[in-house]
Parts: sequence; structure tokens; C-alpha cells
Amino acid sequence: MRRPGLSRREFLGIAGMAAGALALGGCGPFSGGGRDLPGSPQARRTGETREHLLRAAPLEFEAGGQRLLTWGYEGDVPGPEIRLKEGDTLRVRLRNELPEETTIHWHGLPVPNAMDGVPGVTQRPISPGEEFVYEFVVPVAGTYIYHSHVGLQLDRGLYGALIVEPAKENLDYDREYVLVLDDWLDGAGGTPEDALRRLRDSGGMMGGGMGGATLEYPLYLVNGRPPEDPATFEVRRGERVRLRLVNPSAETVFRFAAGGHRLTVTHADGQPVEPVTVDALRIGMGERYDVVFEADNPGVHQLTAAPEGKEGLARALLRYRESAASSPPPADLLPKELRGKLLTYADLKDARERSFPEDTLLGGPDRVYRLTLSGGHGSYAWAIDGQLYPDADLLEVREGEWVRFELQNHSMMVHPMHLHGHFFQLRNDTGRGPFKDTALVEPHMGHLAFDFVADNPGEWFFHCHNAYHLETGMARVVSYGGS
Ligand code: C2O
Ligand code: CU
Repeated sequence: MRRPGLSRREFLGIAGMAAGALALGGCGPFSGGGRDLPGSPQARRTGETREHLLRAAPLEFEAGGQRLLTWGYEGDVPGPEIRLKEGDTLRVRLRNELPEETTIHWHGLPVPNAMDGVPGVTQRPISPGEEFVYEFVVPVAGTYIYHSHVGLQLDRGLYGALIVEPAKENLDYDREYVLVLDDWLDGAGGTPEDALRRLRDSGGMMGGGMGGATLEYPLYLVNGRPPEDPATFEVRRGERVRLRLVNPSAETVFRFAAGGHRLTVTHADGQPVEPVTVDALRIGMGERYDVVFEADNPGVHQLTAAPEGKEGLARALLRYRESAASSPPPADLLPKELRGKLLTYADLKDARERSFPEDTLLGGPDRVYRLTLSGGHGSYAWAIDGQLYPDADLLEVREGEWVRFELQNHSMMVHPMHLHGHFFQLRNDTGRGPFKDTALVEPHMGHLAFDFVADNPGEWFFHCHNAYHLETGMARVVSYGGS
């Protein structure tokens, strides 16, 4: 059940009181009777209860002609797609058949804190042989991920797509496919724990050079399929096709393009943006984009996800019904669209016309955290403001506050920073940035700022979604109850 939070009306009432108090104190009020802040959607139960059993267990998996042993949900990688409607209740019985503890996190969804799946922060991890039931009302439509939040388990294959359809669809399309991208370590790459050992032994100098240790993966997958045996998505000429692009990979930013087609981005991290048409987009770990395209170019085309800064590629095929006889492009084809117009955060604008007020002398965020991202020098460890989780300060907030994070990247690697339990609004020059839950902070002094309303009480993880950065310290807890 959701913890008691402030409703929109109650919040405005309090904000109005605060403005009144300020006026009495002679400081001048915020304009009007309070600030209208765009918070995360509140859960309203309107629909049905959807039950799923997810067994987390070792499994055998075939990819690239090898039989691989790994861990996954319900015997498959990715785990089964979970699809429901906003307002439905999701009830998942997680049965832990792994040799170690586990949890599930509902990445991107502002769930009640106790359902958030962070071991040691929101729940006791589930022991081998035990079960745990996650249950919550799904508050808002979008494209999400569910995944293990224990150690490096994500990099074994304990993830799946979580699709929440809106009560009323207002996007016009004929067909939809979900593409789950992954960097595949097991097999030639050993276990994630082996990989972390190699990164640590390299003193942070592996792969990407100075301060940029990175993992080369033997395989990159779309929906669990290697490039030699790609998933094939059928379309008919004249259709409008929606793709949901999901990146639960542990360590890889993908650059995605569809050969022969331009892509119109309609949602970022599941939330609607003003449509913007591009040739290619980057998808960081933990990010999701929804795109639509017109199927107006019969043939067999490559849907390519090129791992940034790494060799190899992930791919799937787009096959027109009318072109059954055409042969597929070669497995290593890089469509020219990959080098075309690339989506940037500056292109993205919230479609619901919601924004935080302009900062003025009298009004602005109630709390600002300026945090540096650093690490990778000399040893493989990644820090937020010089601190390594769990040996790190809480980021305290109070319910109802308008909070701003300003992040500065002092390292040579990109960091997809993810906040649990809330959507934040990226600050960009449109004045109405997209609402997201994960955003890339670029290397070499890259800077990013976002605002959110503290409207979901609890203890919420904020961390880098590079699984190896998270595991070596790049995390904090945002804690309600600050002063
Ligand atoms: Cu997708 Cu804290 O994670
Ligand atoms: Cu990172």
C-alpha cells in the first residue's frame, strides 16, 4: 500500500500557506497562492489485479552457438514481459531458486517504498528457497524494466520488460515491438564477479584507457538473441510501427538506428515528449525510449544497437511482409542512419506542458544538491561527491519540497544516474525538459541538472546504472525526514 502522501490539493494548500507566511514575514510571496510543481503521478487503483510468478533460477541458455549457464526469470532471458494497464494492481510472487539472496526492483515506477526492492534499504533480501510478494498499484503508463537489485545479478540476465499501457491510448500506431538490449558476459566472459575482479586488478585502466575501465562483452543481444540468429519483426507497408527500446544492460550505452527509416521519439523513460524525428539515439543503461516510424520502405532492414566505445553489435531484423523473398543484410552491417541526426537531451520537451517555475530571487528549489561524479583513478571505485556507498551521507529531503540535483562528471566515463521512486525533470533550454528517471552524465566535466518534487516518502536509492559502478560505490540514499 502507498504510504500517505500529499495529494495535489493538499500540497498546493501547504505551499499556499508557506507563501502566506513569507508574505507576513515581509519577504514577499511566491506569485499566486503557491507554486504549481509537477510531481510524480499518484497511484489510483482503477483496474484489475494481475498476478505473476517469477522464479529466479539458474538456467541453460543458447546464444551464438554456445550453451551458456546463467541466471534468469522463468527459465528465459529476458524474463517474461509483464504488461498491464495503469491503475491495475501488480502482484508478483518472487521465488528465489538462486544460490544467493535476491530482490526485484521495478525500475522507473514510483512504487511505495517497501515495494522498491533495494536490499538493505527498502527490504531484507530474499534468501535462497524463500518467496516474497511484491504488490502495488501501477500509477502511470510507460515502458519500464524489472530487474534484480542484488550485487551484479543484473549482468547475468535477471531482467525483463515491464510495459504499462495507458488507460486511454492517444498514440496512433498499428503494431508494436519491444526490443530489450543487453551486453552478454557469461560464457567466454566468465561471471560478473570474475569481470569485476579483472576490472579491479586492472587498477581502472582496462579497456577504455585512462580512468575509463570498461568491459568488452563477447556478445550483444536483442531479446536474448545474438546477431547471427536475430529476432525478426514483421511489418506491412503502410503501417505505423511503435518500438519500445529498453536497455537493462550492465555496462553498455547503445546507439540505435533502423536501416532505411527515420525514428520519431514519442516517450523518454516511458513519459511522453513532444515528438522529435531523428536517425539514431543513444540509450544508456536503465534508459528507455519509445519511437514510431512509418513502414514505407519495403525490404529487410537492420535494427542495429551499436555498443558505444566497444566492438561488435546487437541487431534484429525488420522484415516487410511484402518482401518475404529478400535476404537479410549481413550481420555486421552498420546502417548509415547510425551516423545521421542523433537525439540529444536538448531536443526533448515534456509533452504535458508541465514545468517547474523559473528560478527568481524569491523563489526556486527548496533544496539543491551539487554532486560530483568521480573515480576510476588508480583503483576501480566510483564515487558520488568523493564518497563510496555504503560509507556515504544520506541526501536528506523533506516531503513536499522542490529538490534540485546538479551533477558534474569529473571522470572519463559516462554515468547513467538513476533515481528511484520519482520522476525528475531534466533542465534544458526548452524550459520544459523531459520527465525521466535515468539520465546520462557525459564524461570530461559533463553537467546535468534536474528537479523533482519530494512526494513519495521513504528511503530511495540514487545511483549510477552501470552495474560495476554501483557495485563499487556509486550510490546514495535519498532520505525523507531531513530538516
Ligand atoms: Cu534499475 Cu536502482 O535500479
Ligand atoms: Cu557510472
